[in-house]
Amino acid sequence: MTNDFLTIRSLRKVYNPDTAGEVVALSDLSFSVTKGEFITIVGGNATGKTTLFNVIAGSILPTSGDVLLEGTSILKNPEFKRSCVISRVQQNPNDSVIVSMTLAENLAIATLKNKNARLGNGVKKEWREEFVALLKPLGLGLEKRLDDRVDLLSGGQKQLIAILMATITKPKLLLLDEHTAALDSKISKKILEITNQIVKESGVTTLMITHNIHHAIEYGDRLILLDKGRIGFEAGGLKKQLLNVVDVIEKLED
Ligand SMILES: Nc1ncnc2c1ncn2[C@@H]1O[C@H](COP(=O)(O)OP(=O)(O)OP(=O)(O)O)[C@@H](O)[C@H]1O
Ligand SMILES: [Mg+2]
Repeated sequence: MTNDFLTIRSLRKVYNPDTAGEVVALSDLSFSVTKGEFITIVGGNATGKTTLFNVIAGSILPTSGDVLLEGTSILKNPEFKRSCVISRVQQNPNDSVIVSMTLAENLAIATLKNKNARLGNGVKKEWREEFVALLKPLGLGLEKRLDDRVDLLSGGQKQLIAILMATITKPKLLLLDEHTAALDSKISKKILEITNQIVKESGVTTLMITHNIHHAIEYGDRLILLDKGRIGFEAGGLKKQLLNVVDVIEKLED
């Protein structure tokens, strides 16, 4: 028996096996995550980061290996079942929200995700009050825009709604796949601060992919660097020292 909440065990994913287009995206990848941990995952292009999330969320099957949540393999659970406990925010601000619906409708759909119910009479009055309470502390005035269609929002505002939709049902696991990469650096920082606040307050176990080494070091409890589909480097308590080293290296390069 271990205390592992999420276990990634010897994962291997080969796309187009035994063809000229064969790609080994994950190669004997193993690591484990404890409950409530916030892990940042960094790595160059095509190092298997999104493939890892696709395997965890159930969008694809691995070639071999296993994924265990609370000690039980989830590989046989279909994606829609896993989505009750695993929430995901994608890189593109339009991918995790329904742009043709209002903020309130989006949040209402997220609220209903795990319940055996339909939208029926639309957004309940008490939900609107809850949504206002959720949005107001973010300080962006979104609580006054509950009836605006989501396509009227900026990219950063859409990603905020997506994060709230992903966490409103209190998932066991939150997967953030470069969710601020499409935003400019100032907005990206703001969304990351709010992400960090939501993760810390809710205590949800989180994996966050980022291309930005500063963000990977600054946020989260532990950093994992993926290289060619396996772990290239791991850092826990050393993270702040690492940030100093990155700063020094970048200054030398300038
Ligand atoms: N459906 C697929 N079919 C074939 N190859 C794929 C497929 N999905 C991903 N790959 C390949 O697998 C490798 C890993 O891709 P993946 O998207 O996991 O990388 P990533 O680390 O998320 O990259 P990025 O930083 O660009 O988002 C890449 O070489 C990619 O081209
Ligand atoms: Mg990716």
